[in-house]
Amino acid sequence: MSGADATQAVILAGGQGTRLRPLTLARAKPVVPLLNRPFLAYQLALLRDHGVTDVILACSYRVDDVREALGHAEHLGVHLRYVIETEPLGTGGGVRNAVDLMRGTVFVLNGDVLTDADLTVMRRFHQANGSRATIFLVPVADPRAYGLVETDAAGRLLRFREKPTADEPITTNMINAGIYLIDAELLRRMPAGRAVSIEREFFPQLIAEGVPSFGFTTPAYWRDIGSPSAYRAAQMDLLDGRVRTTLMPPGERHDGAWLESAVCGSTDRITGPAVVGDGVEIGRGARVGPRAVLGSGCRIGAGAHVENAVLWEGVCVGEGARLTNCVVATDAHIGAHAEIGADVVLEPGAVVADRARLGV
Ligand code: GTP
Repeated sequence: MSGADATQAVILAGGQGTRLRPLTLARAKPVVPLLNRPFLAYQLALLRDHGVTDVILACSYRVDDVREALGHAEHLGVHLRYVIETEPLGTGGGVRNAVDLMRGTVFVLNGDVLTDADLTVMRRFHQANGSRATIFLVPVADPRAYGLVETDAAGRLLRFREKPTADEPITTNMINAGIYLIDAELLRRMPAGRAVSIEREFFPQLIAEGVPSFGFTTPAYWRDIGSPSAYRAAQMDLLDGRVRTTLMPPGERHDGAWLESAVCGSTDRITGPAVVGDGVEIGRGARVGPRAVLGSGCRIGAGAHVENAVLWEGVCVGEGARLTNCVVATDAHIGAHAEIGADVVLEPGAVVADRARLGV
């Protein structure tokens, strides 16, 4: 691998995001907003910060959403190209489908992980070990929901186990973080034109053939944003400064809150950390934050309270309503004095009656 190598990445962005429904019925998972920025913008900023500027998006579902949100992403300092599957080809097949655009060693990322992993150190590790396929591993308390990866003391991959069942013994707490560094030559070996799983087929095959493959770990923030609770938690973490990122929310910082434009109503009604989009109205006696994200055009009625919550664009919150620990998609209407809490997720255009209580 030359010094200039590994400046390319493929992002897997073709999944349907079923766990994140109903949000993903309205918008593709790769571009759901995090602090009012499309999710993939965080990955692109991370890649750019580590010298990776040629990025290929392997996609198949709601591609127009992604194009509309990111275009070629020049504003993020990268060049984004789209390779579209007519049928979803799985995590391996999606990468294989884009292989003609790749050369040398490429980063491959699941398009749903928020991380501040040091990709430069990962690249050095790959190089120093003569690795041909390196997986970023993260330790988790309960690894059963993930792909477990066993390595020897030197980090060489020994075994790859996807989501073990409850009666199988757990042999490691290291999981596949969905970030890889792989020689494009190896990717070419995958069968073309059919669905292939990178986790279940590609890596086990490399291990079986004795191709030098390693697991790499380094302390970093990491979260799969693919479920509603994780999607919200990731934004709370960003607000709390737990994720190192150079991508800031839109607008200007004002007393711990990011304001995209002048708020209609007093900014005294906002307690940071918070992110407030364009053209938001906040009524008398209302309280926004701490930890609130309001998309553009939201209207918060008098005396309402929004805390630990994420509201997409155009949400209308009635007088005296209370929203905590929830996610509300575009143009939903929350009735006066309604109470919404505990991981409730409302679909776009949802209507909640006055005084209704959901999740409380
Ligand atoms: P769930 O349905 O909620 O599990 O989400 P998902 O469809 O995104 O699946 P999963 O989280 O397992 O996918 C991991 C990553 O691979 C995500 O970034 C997906 O967008 C991506 N992915 C999954 N299947 C495909 C596919 O067939 N083609 C491509 N290009 N990417 C895929």
